[in-house]
Amino acid sequence: MRIIRSVPAMTAWSLGLRREGIGIGFVPTMGALHEGHRSLIRKARLACDALVVSLFVNPSQFGPGEDYARYPRMFEDDATLCRREGVDVLFAPSAAAMYPAGFETGVVIGAVGKRWEGAVRPGHFDGVATVVTKLFSIVRPDRAFFGQKDFQQSVIVQRLAEDLNLGVKILVCPTVREADGLAMSSRNQYLTRAQRQVAPVLHEGLQAGRTAILRGIRFGAQVARAMQRVVEQEPGVTVDYLACCDPQTLEPLPCIAKQAVLLGAIRLGRVRLIDNLLVKVKADRREKDGP
Ligand code: PAJ
Repeated sequence: MRIIRSVPAMTAWSLGLRREGIGIGFVPTMGALHEGHRSLIRKARLACDALVVSLFVNPSQFGPGEDYARYPRMFEDDATLCRREGVDVLFAPSAAAMYPAGFETGVVIGAVGKRWEGAVRPGHFDGVATVVTKLFSIVRPDRAFFGQKDFQQSVIVQRLAEDLNLGVKILVCPTVREADGLAMSSRNQYLTRAQRQVAPVLHEGLQAGRTAILRGIRFGAQVARAMQRVVEQEPGVTVDYLACCDPQTLEPLPCIAKQAVLLGAIRLGRVRLIDNLLVKVKADRREKDGP
């Protein structure tokens, strides 16, 4: 496995392969790799001839007072995981290489980037979109792999690739969970033992929403209340949002027709956790059978 830190060297490597007609798969990450990242790397490894993983803790997607400085950095462990999974290149640029003096350009995301995570973390998705666009320009992948764990991010990256004709196919892969349902995240390391015990309540809340839908509830507000009831009964948990939304626009759904995404974010002390569930609704029997 090659470790590349320089931007021009990364592009030169990719252009060389592309000239030979070799397809490049790409998994962008911020490191502190866990089983969720590994599942993306494995999918990409199977699907692509060449595989690049990037490791870059992107300052422009962290707000003031967020965890940029203390975000877990464990380069050697990450490099070992990538080597074991057969990654061809680990691209790990410095912040100065990505944002040199004089850097002034950014991508701005519309309404879909302003709600939910975007409302709690203003500017977050502009930072994500800017770095993802830069990474795509540097790595020149044919296919890039993202996790459903960050549902809003995956919707935004798909829009970004389409709106700016980036020529990259975006693949979204399922969320990998701990045995008790907690979605894996690099930030789970921040949880104290007591918080870790409480943390699965977010997934339990989302499951209560899904159960409500599967039992026939179609009003989004009622589904949201079913989720809140479960999560709010746990002391020490602050709900940022629990919502039943349209999977494309992420707007709250007054009434569920075919599918919904249940989005949730909670705080346990200083730690923020996000999760989601996509729920498909079977056609109503009356609808299916016709008049
Ligand atoms: P990071 O949080 O490191 O996540 C990298 C990729 O791994 C993202 O696509 C994320 O959705 C996916 N991922 C994280 N946890 C997962 C899980 N439990 N199951 C499946 N996939 C999971 O997301 C980012 O970094 C950054 O915003 C980035 C896209 C790299 C831009 O800086």
